[in-house]
Amino acid sequence: MKASDKYTVETITEIRTWASNLFSFKTTRSQSYRFIAGQFARLGVEDDNGDLVWRAYSICSAPYDDFLEFYSIVVSDGAFTSRLSQLKVGDPVLVEKRNYGYLTTDRFECGRDLWLLSTGTGLAPFLSILQEFDPWEQYENIVLVHSVRYRHELAYEEFIHSFQENELFAEHAHKLKYVQVVTRDQAARSALNGRITHLLSNGELEAHVGLPIDQERSRVMICGNPDMVQETRDLLTGRGLTLSLRGKPGNLAVENYW
Ligand SMILES: Cc1cc2nc3c(=O)[nH]c(=O)nc-3n(C[C@H](O)[C@H](O)[C@H](O)COP(=O)(O)OP(=O)(O)OC[C@H]3O[C@@H](n4cnc5c(N)ncnc54)[C@H](O)[C@@H]3O)c2cc1C
Ligand SMILES: NC(=O)c1ccc[n+]([C@@H]2O[C@H](COP(=O)([O-])OP(=O)(O)OC[C@H]3O[C@@H](n4cnc5c(N)ncnc54)[C@H](OP(=O)(O)O)[C@@H]3O)[C@@H](O)[C@H]2O)c1
Repeated sequence: MKASDKYTVETITEIRTWASNLFSFKTTRSQSYRFIAGQFARLGVEDDNGDLVWRAYSICSAPYDDFLEFYSIVVSDGAFTSRLSQLKVGDPVLVEKRNYGYLTTDRFECGRDLWLLSTGTGLAPFLSILQEFDPWEQYENIVLVHSVRYRHELAYEEFIHSFQENELFAEHAHKLKYVQVVTRDQAARSALNGRITHLLSNGELEAHVGLPIDQERSRVMICGNPDMVQETRDLLTGRGLTLSLRGKPGNLAVENYW
């Protein structure tokens, strides 16, 4: 595969399998590729007919890393992921030269608490955001909520806990509240067990974290399953929070994955 004016050809350097339907991979990164934490890339792979298939992928790695990292679902019969999941270290992946997306913390002004609400692979952009220093300095609290069906799908758990021991973040590490939500295994005791929408409606999430979500103090990013995004957004706008728009900063920034 050859680079074009639209994309570069990168190489897979590492693959980590989390579950039968979940894996992460790292690729080389072109020196000229730029992005802001929270943004997504468009990745391309060649299918069995030699046609290129393109999909949007949030970037998990930090803007200052010399590699790119992605966290992926495997959809059975999915045109992109059934091919992507067969790739090995050393294989090529195409990366569009342009960066995309508005799920970035610069959408917000002067909040006290940053809430990062995710389902499944919707965790990805928040991993990149957490590796930036500005949010840790700007916010009093960062609440990361990750909702999955089963406990073994809580990918990046160790990495998220590791901010506590990371010298670079140590001064602010106490600000991070990491909330695991497991919806289809009531025996997952260290986690909350209802959907994010349910936990918001009945007040359990805020009680668990010890912080209220309100217009004055909260800035909320929501990513993943489109039904979750829509329902959560409706719940929070019903409580007076507003979508952050260009030139009109508010409380909410959202991204749907399908
Ligand atoms: C802005 C944006 C960022 C994205 N970032 C990521 C990412 O970081 N990681 C990632 O795995 N996917 C991400 N996606 C989804 C990704 O673009 C593809 O949809 C996914 O790779 C599946 O491709 P496919 O061709 O195999 O199946 P598709 O034909 O694209 O999807 C088939 C069906 O699979 C389900 N599905 C698709 N993606 C997901 C998912 N991520 N989690 C659960 N169910 C899903 C939906 O029901 C969808 O209708 C993102 C999508 C958008 C729009
Ligand atoms: N995860 C698996 O074991 C598995 C196995 C095989 C195939 N798949 C396929 O993979 C795809 C994605 O699976 P996934 O588990 O990553 O994604 P998902 O279905 O979006 O579930 C991820 C999390 O989001 C929650 N959620 C879903 N809809 C919601 C809503 N409207 N409001 C609030 N929370 C909501 C889920 O809760 P609920 O549990 O309550 O839905 C779960 O905790 C699906 O198409 C599925 O068929 C998944």
